[in-house]
Amino acid sequence: MAPMPRFPAGFVWGAATAAYQVEGATDEDGRGRSIWDTFSHTDGRVRDGHTGDVACDHYHRWPQDIALLVDAGLNAYRFSIAWPRVQPDGAGPANAAGLDFYDRLVDGLLDRGVAPTPTLFHWDLPQELEDAGGWLARETAYRFADYAGLVADRLADRVARWITLNEPFIHMAFGYAVGLHAPGRALLLDALPVAHHQLLAHGLATAALRSRGVPEVLLTNNYTPVHPASDSEGDRTAAEVYDALHNRLFTDPVLLAKYPDVAPLTGVLPFVQDGDLAVISAPIDGLGVNYYTPSRIAQAEPGSPLPFQPMPIEGVPVTAFGWPVVPSGLHDLLLLQRKRYGAALPPIYITENGCSCHDEPAHDGAVHDPDRIAFLDGHLRAVHQAMADGVDVRGYYVWSLLDNFEWAEGYHQRFGLVYVDYETQARIPKDSYRWLRDTLAEQ
Ligand code: FCB
Repeated sequence: MAPMPRFPAGFVWGAATAAYQVEGATDEDGRGRSIWDTFSHTDGRVRDGHTGDVACDHYHRWPQDIALLVDAGLNAYRFSIAWPRVQPDGAGPANAAGLDFYDRLVDGLLDRGVAPTPTLFHWDLPQELEDAGGWLARETAYRFADYAGLVADRLADRVARWITLNEPFIHMAFGYAVGLHAPGRALLLDALPVAHHQLLAHGLATAALRSRGVPEVLLTNNYTPVHPASDSEGDRTAAEVYDALHNRLFTDPVLLAKYPDVAPLTGVLPFVQDGDLAVISAPIDGLGVNYYTPSRIAQAEPGSPLPFQPMPIEGVPVTAFGWPVVPSGLHDLLLLQRKRYGAALPPIYITENGCSCHDEPAHDGAVHDPDRIAFLDGHLRAVHQAMADGVDVRGYYVWSLLDNFEWAEGYHQRFGLVYVDYETQARIPKDSYRWLRDTLAEQ
């Protein structure tokens, strides 16, 4: 393999996890129920009935996990805070014991020279808030700002970089439009209010963080370069609609203070009240980009309830999940963002990138994952190229530090640099972990 080109000094090298995917300990220290507890305990929702009850037991094993992160040469850890640990019912005063966990984690990270990067919402909404309408209810945005304030009251003296929401598009699409994720609603385009209320939540939480002196606020979105399946007008229009929905709906309002003027997304507008867009478009200090794969979109079949049809991408390798591997898509995407938003684009952090592989310990006890090494190598080069082409990228977080609970797939998809034996909770660093460590050592 050719040597990895050099990234600038000060570049942030991190790994990411999310609370429900790794913590376990769902009944400890006063934690309330989240929509993912309900969903994973509902028959037929998650493959093989897997739940996050134990997950990687990161709640107890975090010192060992951050030691692994440090030994890989990483200098940042993106984790998420479980809202139901902080406000077990989604409202009211903070549960001190829940915040204590993140307090210990943050101190543990700082002691080891690792920059904490908490995400305030990675999909585990308190169940009580779902019962009151979830993100379909505007009130949830105000509850989120209160919660953000409580967390900042405890941690803002030590944590500089905060992420408000993780992938609001995926949460809306999978959770509310098609029902593959919690809360499992299948409202199709009637899920659109969820977009506005999450964006309002982002804006209100940004204000709450600022009022506690937080210097760096980010919003993390999932992005995908969208290609029409053919040159036909129908396919091109469908691709534009899909691009507006996946890439622009959660970015234009934040960076440009307006919603994309693309039907049927304009269905969100009746939910917008005076002053909302000013709140939503308050300046942010970075855009979190999660990238996994590009999209190929065709015109919908007649009678389809959605105005587009996702199509397979042929002729490229796929991950264990079946996601096409296209490193150049990350370069294209970063250049597209710069072209689209120009001076309004803040610095970019790649807050997730990685792949699932069919990982298993071999006879020698090691986990050989050459496909993940190739994936990470290709995508890091794509980031470097985009930077050479003028895009301001400040950091890269691998998804994920550990194998973990992959939502509707349960424990079947392994994304970690570190293998987790769920029977024994043993951690086995994979070949990709050593590759990353060696690569970073040469930076
Ligand atoms: C992203 C999620 C993350 C993980 C990866 C594979 O959409 O943010 O939690 O599941 O996909």
